[in-house]
Order: sequence, then structure tokens, then C-alpha cells
Amino acid sequence: MRYFIAASAVTVFGLLAFLLFQSGISEKEMPHDDEQAGLKDQIVIHFSHVVAENTPKGLTAQKFADLVEDKTDGRIKVLVYPNSIMYSDGEELDALKNNEVQMIAPSFSKLQKLEVLDLPFLFRNDEHVRSVFTGPVGKKLLQRVQTSHIKPMALWSNGFKQVTHNKKHLVSPADFKNERIRIQPSSLIQMQYEELGAQPVPISFNDVYQSLEANRIDGQENTVSNFYSKRFYKLQKYMTISNHGILGYAVLMNGSVWKKLSPHDQSILSAAMEEATQWNVQQSQKMNSSQLQELQNSGEMSFYRLSVKQKDDWKKAFKEVYDQAEREIEADLIHAIKVAENGIH
Ligand code: LMR
Repeated sequence: MRYFIAASAVTVFGLLAFLLFQSGISEKEMPHDDEQAGLKDQIVIHFSHVVAENTPKGLTAQKFADLVEDKTDGRIKVLVYPNSIMYSDGEELDALKNNEVQMIAPSFSKLQKLEVLDLPFLFRNDEHVRSVFTGPVGKKLLQRVQTSHIKPMALWSNGFKQVTHNKKHLVSPADFKNERIRIQPSSLIQMQYEELGAQPVPISFNDVYQSLEANRIDGQENTVSNFYSKRFYKLQKYMTISNHGILGYAVLMNGSVWKKLSPHDQSILSAAMEEATQWNVQQSQKMNSSQLQELQNSGEMSFYRLSVKQKDDWKKAFKEVYDQAEREIEADLIHAIKVAENGIH
């Protein structure tokens, strides 16, 4: 109860701060007791995202906020808004550009310039993901999304994606024929499901549950963590452990807000981001495996793990996806991602 009251107070404070910010009134203009030293120097950064708090993205965003608060003794506050309570995934990029929020972390699949990361079977394991995201290849990838409006800060992982269905396990490419599968809005993911003979249906994350409930789709792909936290298991009873792709995020800040920060504050934010990012991959790996274990123990669902041979059948079906990506994206970049492994960049 005490936790609930404290959590509600934080949410109310956050919403109030957000509304004041939206209406153009900064904290500096709020009435306050002059003895509250430092309040006039306070900087508030609103960080909006679309998933639950208890997910790799939700927890890493909060970890970043806590680190910033600690490192600045509360002078810089990062207020995190989960579950699309501020903006849905179709709206958040514009909200960032218009400085209606100062930070977001959309998935790669929603940023055309990072679509290379949607290639199937590109990553071997979480260590490979960490190596790419935190190494020089990750820096190169981040530069692709840099504009005068956008300061890219980091790449975060949510882990590997699995596919689920309401009536059967999707095991061989033939099992996908005509199945309506929810995807994120990525042409590369769309092509993968078309190559499998399915009907890919792009749907915003916050509409997936209702779309499953209304039987507008038969299946979907996502990490265990997103599947678990949004309770998709109530409607999707068959999970294929395919680890066929990853879900990750580009953490972005509004470019002019970043430029207005002092070099000292910029270095504090960068250090906090670096620390949160190192924590993120381990956290996502832990969460996905413990929640998978929990789902398996619950007896609510049936699981099927693809064999090496079955993965090879999927890879064959995806050949054209790779050929097209190598023609249209950059064969060099794909190669650089593939060879960055276990600390060797
Ligand atoms: C999805 O749309 O499934 C994900 O991108 C949601 C998220 O942000 O993890």
C-alpha cells in the first residue's frame, strides 16, 4: 500500500511536470520556497516509451534515470513514462522532434535506417548482441540516425524474438502459409513473413492484445519479456522458440535539448547511459530466460524448440531477404555485424 501511494505520488508528480512542460511552463517558473536551494537550476527530461515497466527497456530507462539523479544529486531529473501513456510507437518520433518529450527508445524496426538489425539469424547469442551494440559497429549504426533534431545515445537490447500462434506450433515454413502474423512496421520483417507464405500485418504495439482478442491476427513475434508483460499468453497458446531475430532499441534524445546542456551535464548523461547500457544486455538475457521458465512452469502454454535442421529450413526460406538486403543496405555493414563477436569487434 505504502509502495502504491509512493508510486502514485511519483506518477502524479511526473504527469504534472509533463503537463507544465507541455504548456510551456518550466519548473523554474513554478512557485517554490527560495530556501529549496538548486530548484531553479533543475533540469527535467521526459522519457516516453511503449512497453511495461518490468521489461528490459522499462528497467534500463529507470536505471538510467536513477543514475542521473544520483550523479547530479537530483539536479537533473529523468521522468520515465511507460506503456504508451504519453505517446504510442507511431507518435513518439514526432513527439521527440517537436520536443514534446526529450527522450524515447523506439525499436530498430521503427527506424528505417536501422532496419539491417531486423535481418533474421544475424546474431548468434546475447554476447554477440552486446559486442555489436557497445562496440564500434554500434557507434556506426547510431550515426545513421543522427540528425539536427536527434541525438542518438545508445543501443539497448530486449533479446531474441520467438513466434507464437493461437492454434498450432509454427515449425516448418509450410506452417506459416496464409497465417496472419502481427509484425512491427519494418519492410524487412514484412518480407521475411511473405517469404514464408504468411500474411504479415503491421500493428502498433499497444494494439496487439486487442487485435489478438478480436481474432484479427493468428500469431505474432516478440521477445518473451514483451509477451509475458503484456499477458499475450492468455490468447496465444503455442510458442516456437526460434530465436530468429532480435528486438532492440535506439535510445534517442532531442538534438536541441542535448546541445543546450553544458559539456559537464552532457558528460554526466553519457556516463549514466554507458553504465545503464552495460547493465541492459545482462538484464534482458536474465529476464527473458526467467520469464520463459515461469511460462513453462505455469502449464498455460505449449512450447516447441526449433532444431538446427529446422532453423536451416527457415534460413533457406529467407535467402531472398538476405540477397535483397545485401543489394539495398550495405554488404559491408552486414559483414561487420556478423564478425563482431565475443569482444572482437
Ligand atoms: C513491438 O512493437 O513489438 C516492440 O517494438 C515494442 C517495444 O518497444 O519493445
